[in-house]
Amino acid sequence: MAARESGGMAAARCAGRIGVMASVAVNLALLAMYIRRRYFGGGRSDKDIVPSKGKPPVTSESVVNLDHGDPTLYEEFWHGTGDRATIVIPGWQTMSYFSDLGGFCWFVEPGFEREVRRLHRLVGNAVVDGYYFLAGTGSTQLFQAALYALSPAEDGTPMSVVSPAPYYSSYPSVTNFLNSALYRWDGDANMFNGDTCIELVCSPNNPDGGIRKAVIKSNSGKTIHDFAYNWPQYTPITEAASHDIMLFTVSKCTGHAGTRLGWALVKDMEVAQKMIKFMELNTIGVSKDSQLRAAKILKAVCDGYELSPASEANRLFHFAQRKMAERWSKLRATVAASGIFSLPNEVSDYCTFAKEKVTANPPFAWLRCHKDGLDDLEAFLRGNKIITRGGPKFGVDEKVVRVSMLDTDEAFNMFIGRIASLK
Ligand SMILES: Cc1ncc(COP(=O)(O)O)c(C=O)c1O
Repeated sequence: MAARESGGMAAARCAGRIGVMASVAVNLALLAMYIRRRYFGGGRSDKDIVPSKGKPPVTSESVVNLDHGDPTLYEEFWHGTGDRATIVIPGWQTMSYFSDLGGFCWFVEPGFEREVRRLHRLVGNAVVDGYYFLAGTGSTQLFQAALYALSPAEDGTPMSVVSPAPYYSSYPSVTNFLNSALYRWDGDANMFNGDTCIELVCSPNNPDGGIRKAVIKSNSGKTIHDFAYNWPQYTPITEAASHDIMLFTVSKCTGHAGTRLGWALVKDMEVAQKMIKFMELNTIGVSKDSQLRAAKILKAVCDGYELSPASEANRLFHFAQRKMAERWSKLRATVAASGIFSLPNEVSDYCTFAKEKVTANPPFAWLRCHKDGLDDLEAFLRGNKIITRGGPKFGVDEKVVRVSMLDTDEAFNMFIGRIASLK
């Protein structure tokens, strides 16, 4: 009996010990998982890492924000391209700072440069032969690199930076925000009467869509051509441009603003080298991951024209041109019916890319209001749940605003509905 009792007790003790050990093991495993997640980010499946959604969806109650040229219009096209525009970068790749030590610019990915040059040859909007190629974190960074490279003036004073009004609202703020001794914003190029300056030539122009040439006629003047919107969905391509510094961006070409990648074509080697110096000091180069992604995206665009059946699902510029034309025709009809608004006149020209006469579809509507007693159009529209950017930010009056034409269908249609109801 005693032996049987002691046998039962031994079994119970043994079971108890196993229970304690199991519980310690479970707790240790949980602790290890917690430490791995907390300090090394591991332990979760890839499904947990999802891209952020950006702006909230538009509802009939919400404010429609068309202040930024956020190119979400393009999402529909890229939904349809699947693997052709997808890249996977394993953990061990793109780790070095360096991309191409044997090339002109050590931080440029050769695949990105190759696809950009291919794209320009396909579209015919810029000469690439004889130009140095640079990548930047958006064309915004390249703009600053170009200012740095072209400044100061010969006598050592800050270089004046000008652009004809209405000018892109970022030009004054980006030029002045560091209060540089090398350059300073000097306003409307048409009012400039100094000796030398840097003229920013944006064509098609943000905000009003105008086709622009440099207005300053001095020999010592320098130009930076901002060609963010010089693509067939926005404007007829009429020539292969060949200016000293030409800036482009994937943000407005393919819609990949979040990739933060732009490029510059630069004629003069010394200027290009100074721009590289700026990039080294500013961000030690440009994301290789972004360049590889952009290379794949641009390859999909070029392949879509050169290697694929001629359908809109393969042809980015045709897709975007149709969408923009549909929006402009809706907007023009609504504005014509309103009696209080007006838009710049429609312009058409022969497009060497489309090989026919086409109408321009600017990325922004430059909307003017003629309602008696209404002075501040931005405030009036805000009161009607439409956020736009008012004329003073572009160097002009308050009765005009810039409205993005590049947002989602929902936002654009809500905007049309709201301005149709304004009297
Ligand atoms: C005329 C113009 N240039 C440059 C940029 C900046 O482009 P990124 O996104 O490449 O910095 C914009 C963006 O809205 C723009 O409108």
